[in-house]
Amino acid sequence: MTNVMINGEPAAADVGEDLLTVARRQGAVVGFLCDGRGMCTTCQCQVIAGAGELTEPNEVERAWLSEEQLGRDERLACQARLAGEGPVAVVTGAETIRQQLRDVLSAGVSPRAAIQLAGLMTGLGAGAAQVARGFPMNVLRTWPRFLEMPPHLPGITKYVVDSGRVVARAIQPGAGENAAESLTARPVPIEDGSREAVGPGADI
Ligand code: FES
Repeated sequence: MTNVMINGEPAAADVGEDLLTVARRQGAVVGFLCDGRGMCTTCQCQVIAGAGELTEPNEVERAWLSEEQLGRDERLACQARLAGEGPVAVVTGAETIRQQLRDVLSAGVSPRAAIQLAGLMTGLGAGAAQVARGFPMNVLRTWPRFLEMPPHLPGITKYVVDSGRVVARAIQPGAGENAAESLTARPVPIEDGSREAVGPGADI
């Protein structure tokens, strides 16, 4: 068992599991359009603590994410696996967008809402541009993953069930409060060159 927090909530996980499997089992708000085949980037997440407890970014992540993003410990949850016993803390991109959207809606009609909306749209635009830049070469590169993981009925059923759970969680009032705290944690370098988080999310 490892010590993992997904969106500010503890999750049961074993060494060797990928973060997407852990997040889906927990019912966290996380994207997985391609069902973990490394072809969509909707599972992108921010590691805020314990980046050294994960496997090194693989060729799929290097295809989709820039060096800068990898340097900020952004990962694809379906590719990053638990290599150590933690602690590891992660906030998913889908949860971050959900938080931003909630802030926009709660601000009503106001200058603050306009600024928040602009920030949200800028972030979404940058994400869409990143994915668009990668097509079609990255899809061609990751196509073997589709052959390695061909669709099958139990997998499709689980996909539908997990998707429904994510949507239900995303619209649940009060959900994600712990993730909001985790988002304030920032990874900072420590002496041995690894990274640790400071702030509320570091307390795992
Ligand atoms: S779920 Fe599609 S890239 Fe991870």
